[in-house]
Amino acid sequence: MNEELNISMDITSIMNNAVKLSAIDLNAKASDGFAQKLAQAQATLRQASAEHGDKVTFACSLGAEDMVVAHLINSLGLNIGMFVLETGKLHTQTLQLLEQLKASSQAPVTVYIPNNEAVVEFVKREGEEPMYKSIELRKACCQVRKMEPLGRALHGKTAWITGLRREQSGARAEVPLVDTSESRVKFNPLADWTWGDVWHYIGTNKVAYNQLHDEFFPSIGCAPCTRAISLGEDFRAGRWWWENEAAKECGLHVKG
Ligand code: ADX
Ligand code: SF4
Repeated sequence: MNEELNISMDITSIMNNAVKLSAIDLNAKASDGFAQKLAQAQATLRQASAEHGDKVTFACSLGAEDMVVAHLINSLGLNIGMFVLETGKLHTQTLQLLEQLKASSQAPVTVYIPNNEAVVEFVKREGEEPMYKSIELRKACCQVRKMEPLGRALHGKTAWITGLRREQSGARAEVPLVDTSESRVKFNPLADWTWGDVWHYIGTNKVAYNQLHDEFFPSIGCAPCTRAISLGEDFRAGRWWWENEAAKECGLHVKG
């Protein structure tokens, strides 16, 4: 047997015997001042509830950050409802987590689906996967599957809560804990949390999370528009990866 073949067999046997590391193993690391950040996140959620009562809602994408926020809301016993935009294009793993959340959450979970007629008409006109053809068509798909349902979810609400963090992208670097720049107040309780903080909380509190996070999907959206990232790639590199950086938002958090 030649030496090259030997080495490659060794590597294969190492890979086969390697223990697969979970997203918790890989990422959990509390940053300095984590206890204070946690207390601040809890205070932000209490403030949202006290100031807005049943007029505040939590936008839950079922991503790691949002599972933390859902856990915080439930553990604080706050009566804050949450909603999930089920676009009809989510991964099976995300849908499984949605069922788990609905079964375990004390706070009510409402699922918003796109207008069926609008989807049928859009798909008939543009095909099942028009998002790769142009930015306009991608945004049109987001409009039908996310933005219109978002409008319904936020109707009559004076405030909403998100899992946005400053570290997620350049465009989010200034995200405040409480954003009063638009008529509907936005609370971002994890604004100053690191990715390590998120996973430290998930690991410590045994929070359920999307299995795709164990497959190197840090940021998860719809299936056709999300891929795994490789070593060294940015946090959001797997979202709309064929588009340039500036275009990579679906509109949910773009200022009007
Ligand atoms: S996106 O704008 O690029 O899709 P991202 O996935 O980073 O956003 O999520 C940012 C925040 O937007 C989440 O923490 C959540 O509050 C909200 N959000 C995103 N997708 C959804 C969804 N499908 N349902 C409800 N809220 C969502
Ligand atoms: Fe459509 Fe992709 Fe936007 Fe989902 S993220 S609504 S599949 S374009």
